[in-house]
Amino acid sequence: MKTTVNHRSLGGIMRPYRVANVLRENETTHTLLFDGRLPEAQPGQFVMAWLPEIGEKPFSIHANIPLALTICDVGPVSNAMVNLQVHDRLWLRGPLGNGFELKGSKHLLVGGGYGAAPLSFLAEEALRQEGEVVACLGAKTKADLILVDRLTSLGCELRVATEDGSEGSQGLVTEVAQEAIDAFQPDCLYACGPTGMLLALADFCQQRGLPAQLSFEALMRCGVGLCGSCELPEELCQRLGLPGGWLVCHDGPVAMIG
Ligand SMILES: Cc1cc2nc3c(=O)[nH]c(=O)nc-3n(C[C@H](O)[C@H](O)[C@H](O)COP(=O)(O)OP(=O)(O)OC[C@H]3O[C@@H](n4cnc5c(N)ncnc54)[C@H](O)[C@@H]3O)c2cc1C
Ligand code: FES
Repeated sequence: MKTTVNHRSLGGIMRPYRVANVLRENETTHTLLFDGRLPEAQPGQFVMAWLPEIGEKPFSIHANIPLALTICDVGPVSNAMVNLQVHDRLWLRGPLGNGFELKGSKHLLVGGGYGAAPLSFLAEEALRQEGEVVACLGAKTKADLILVDRLTSLGCELRVATEDGSEGSQGLVTEVAQEAIDAFQPDCLYACGPTGMLLALADFCQQRGLPAQLSFEALMRCGVGLCGSCELPEELCQRLGLPGGWLVCHDGPVAMIG
């Protein structure tokens, strides 16, 4: 599924989209559905979203037919985006970066917080190829969880962890994911979420010899490998076996481990 699109050329083209619908995922997170789609988008890729006089930030592609983004309100750009109404306009460039690459037929998906955003696109693609999908979702509380209903309705087996125990197992999603690895014996693990969660999963997968595809976040400016602001710290590259100077926007966001 790795993209063959020349994303450097597409990365420069900004296209206008209008909001066609808004789904409220929880108090701070909304999914915006747009009046179009991106050319050849793959699960795991992202777009740079721009609002005039506010700014431009990266967001994962949640779905592409129609194009959808799931936005958590954490600062100026995301706040303006969750406040967009039907018919409002924003500008997007992408798809950017690499995508997840489906391996084998048993897929374990792990999402922490709004990191779950790209996983329903991936689950849809895996199920379309007649794969089996187990999805583990984690959040601080039940109210912070997103995409539980969507992943269940797609046909994924769902395992949930909340830090306060208000839904699913009490604890971290990494614990639930480790149990799922033992029970489900997946061919590959795909994860998106906070760096600490990704590193814990990387260690566990490396110990088990399980291939992992981990989607990293970083501060981005250009989104196309020119400015260097999204370089993964050297110690993380070494720990994950990635080459030094690994750029999240250009070499990732998905790091292939093992
Ligand atoms: C490839 C990629 C995909 C993403 N997908 C999504 C998505 O689907 N949905 C979504 O809601 N967000 C996503 N993000 C995160 C989103 O781009 C950031 O949260 C962005 O900074 C929001 O912009 P803002 O102007 O609203 O807030 P900002 O003012 O930029 O940030 C608000 C707060 O978050 C902190 N922060 C921002 N980025 C990071 C970071 N990388 N690491 C640690 N702290 C950070 C800032 O320091 C600040 O305290 C993604 C990021 C990347 C790189
Ligand atoms: S954001 Fe500029 S190099 Fe990645």
